[in-house]
Amino acid sequence: MQSTQLHIDRDRLMGDLERLASFSDDTPPGISRLVFAEADQKSRTWLKAQCQAAGLVVREDAVGNMFARWKGARPELPAIGTGSHIDAIPHSGKFDGTVGVLGGLEAIRALQQSGFAPQRSIELLLFTSEEPTRFGLGCLGSRMLSGGLNGDADARLKDAEGTTLSQLRTAAGFQGSLDEVRLKDDYYAGFVELHIEQGPLLEKEGLAIGVVTGIAAPAALRITVEGEGGHAGGVLMPDRKDAFCAAAEIVLAIEERALATGAIDTCATVGKCAIYPGAVNSIPSRVEMEADIRDTDEQRRNRVLREIEQACAQVAERRKVQVRVTPINADAPASCSPRIINAALEAAAENGLSYKKMVSRAYHDSLFMARIAPIGMIFIPCRGGVSHRPDEYSSPQEIENGVKVLAGTLARLSSLG
Ligand code: GLV
Ligand code: MN
Ligand code: MN
Repeated sequence: MQSTQLHIDRDRLMGDLERLASFSDDTPPGISRLVFAEADQKSRTWLKAQCQAAGLVVREDAVGNMFARWKGARPELPAIGTGSHIDAIPHSGKFDGTVGVLGGLEAIRALQQSGFAPQRSIELLLFTSEEPTRFGLGCLGSRMLSGGLNGDADARLKDAEGTTLSQLRTAAGFQGSLDEVRLKDDYYAGFVELHIEQGPLLEKEGLAIGVVTGIAAPAALRITVEGEGGHAGGVLMPDRKDAFCAAAEIVLAIEERALATGAIDTCATVGKCAIYPGAVNSIPSRVEMEADIRDTDEQRRNRVLREIEQACAQVAERRKVQVRVTPINADAPASCSPRIINAALEAAAENGLSYKKMVSRAYHDSLFMARIAPIGMIFIPCRGGVSHRPDEYSSPQEIENGVKVLAGTLARLSSLG
């Protein structure tokens, strides 16, 4: 299958991306799609119709993962999967995840229109809640598909309002036991995800395609600081146990511990922080924060996690506050399959596109799919490396390039031999 013969309908794909962006809870150009909220539900309904219009057979599981299958000549064989997510963090952009879902659909449509007949079925996946916004835990759908989360998540996972996953998924129309979500180990013969790079390297080096060799190991911590509240004028400074001052020291210690590894791949971010009671004239009595710690080297990431715990204990002792550190997740990294890497490299080369191999320092649903299938990822550049912001941007040409390489990769993987 020469994917150079493929015609990617760029206008249709860009139109699809715009249409999906119109389902949002934010003011344009900001995008926000909280899983199971109205914009997410509307997007799912629209996407399902697009998949059905392409002749794909659609099913959904109990947590809302959607599978749209193009049946191959050998439907009894493990399929080839592709796809990503459409949920979007607050005030973000229109390309994170969506390029992998709508680009995957366009790759399938282009292969269909070229007359290509797959041996293995090709299945497009829409993963539920790759972003941790609602439940505090990323990659909800792919974690479940790969056995990393089971049925007890139904009652255990709650959103900020205290509504359980069980209540939210049921209200969104997804019934059944979460224990049924896990896929069999041989369900997929391969899974490949197209995604924007979310970093600056491809653009800086003037390259069209990144072929991912591995995905960094993410972790997250919830850190609660309990101090003593009081009147902002009445309580004398030497007598205070200000929870926010302690939290501020912890935030800086987290940054310092990550920088101290000296490795560019160690990243630490405190992206969530709530101060209670939250009045200008009231000493903060409690702070709740969430920290995101990642590294391509799992041992080094774990060392940083331990050092952060130690730093929290030291701040607690010195400032006479209580600090509780609760791990949210500490996931292993993933390696991409050499066979899928090669298929993507060949597809890039046959399209005359420049490329390099690279690691993904962002996490993706592929991290979890790697537990049950050989995986691969294809990156395209994004302007300035910007992502998780409204000005996130990849050009129509860059997206088309990625879809061509994805289609060429799917064609190779879905053929036997
Ligand atoms: C995914 O959204 C990530 O935070 O890496
Ligand atoms: Mn994201
Ligand atoms: Mn993403």
